[in-house]
Amino acid sequence: MPSTSECRVCQGTVHEFFDFGRQPLSDAFRLPDAADEEFFFRLAVGACAGCTMVQLMEEVPRERMFHEDYPYLSSGSAGMRAHFSSVARRFLDTALDSDDPFVVEIGCNDGVMLRTIADAGVRHLGFEPSGGVADIAASHGVNVRKGFFEEETAREVLAEHGRADVIFSANTFCHIPYIGSVLRGVEALLAPRGVFVFEDPYFGDIVEKTSYDQVYDEHFFLFTVTSVRAMAARFGLELVDVERIPTHGGELRYTLARAGARTPSAAVEDLARQEDERALTSEETLKGFGRSVELSRDRLMELLRDISARGERVVAYGATAKSATVVNYCGIDPSLVEFVVDTTPAKQGRLTPGGHLPVRGPEAFADPYPDYALLFAWNHEQEILAKETGFREAGGRWIGYVPQVHVS
Ligand code: SAM
Ligand code: TMP
Ligand code: ZN
Repeated sequence: MPSTSECRVCQGTVHEFFDFGRQPLSDAFRLPDAADEEFFFRLAVGACAGCTMVQLMEEVPRERMFHEDYPYLSSGSAGMRAHFSSVARRFLDTALDSDDPFVVEIGCNDGVMLRTIADAGVRHLGFEPSGGVADIAASHGVNVRKGFFEEETAREVLAEHGRADVIFSANTFCHIPYIGSVLRGVEALLAPRGVFVFEDPYFGDIVEKTSYDQVYDEHFFLFTVTSVRAMAARFGLELVDVERIPTHGGELRYTLARAGARTPSAAVEDLARQEDERALTSEETLKGFGRSVELSRDRLMELLRDISARGERVVAYGATAKSATVVNYCGIDPSLVEFVVDTTPAKQGRLTPGGHLPVRGPEAFADPYPDYALLFAWNHEQEILAKETGFREAGGRWIGYVPQVHVS
């Protein structure tokens, strides 16, 4: 029975449009002999009838997701390292014209972006509640505050360091259900001409590509230009620019400023109009998305079962958080996918959440090569295919499922 909940932005009614069922924490990789009970919650997604914001129906307590042993390392991909160093360079070149600029990052992880800011000798502070990755950032000379960014902690930083010229957040702002507290904190901390820039998966891309694996515990909100513009206005802020960026399979970079401080670019209105024209959050579109998700699951499972029936091997590539939804929604188990290879030390030797696929280091991939590789890290496809040319040469084939299930 589809449920309703209260919108975390406008307190309107959120109507559920898809239920992925019982799902584990996407980044909870378990030791093979772990005895504690695995945590599950109902992963369902809805849209607000008031402000259109797409959001999860159930919230996972933040400390369950972000803690000392949070395994994700932002520097794990060369493509993302290059992306964030260019983001930092852009801030250094164009956004920091005050005498003693100050940059704040929400969710700095291992310091992938702030390292460049630190190296340039610019005042900065990264908020990072996950202690292990925060320590890595600190070891690279980044100033880190271990903790969650929210109104109270933002005010403490304001009192200690003064206002921020730039507040940046990548793949974190959409993780935060208590978004009102964060925006009040941003509003307090931001300099009069300052900008709050954030990058997150774009719901427009998710619908277009049926990339349903973007829906998981950590991705509480799936933003659109329409919903973000309305949200900003509630907190004295204004959406002044949007840019489509190719990271993580299709994201938007949003720029917010104090209301009236900057003139919005034409891109904001253009993309909002496109969302209107395609009725991005209408009941019909959302139902259609649900049907495409079911079809994608059925095709993938048929393919994996056929391969298994022929006695051929499938190994997955990249133990991504996203893949938790694919594995557990589709029902993939080690009889269909032998193991997953991943470069992240804290994931290796463990089992993926829910589906319990073993995770091995990247060297296991060629030892010997499987017949098929299921590309869970499809957002890093270029980088991975460029270094794994030997797999195709050995006769191996890649399986993908975005935008449709395909073998190449
Ligand atoms: N910015 C990095 C990137 O784009 O690769 C990290 C993204 S990671 C998916 C999300 C990070 O946000 C985690 O390291 C998590 O600990 C952090 N986080 C979650 N809630 C936060 C909050 N309220 N304030 C600051 N960081 C937070
Ligand atoms: P992400 O899609 O959330 O960035 O996660 C990517 C995962 O894939 C992360 O666990 C690291 C892993 N990975 C590899 O194992 N090999 C690679 O070449 C790349 C780029 C990522
Ligand atoms: Zn709402």
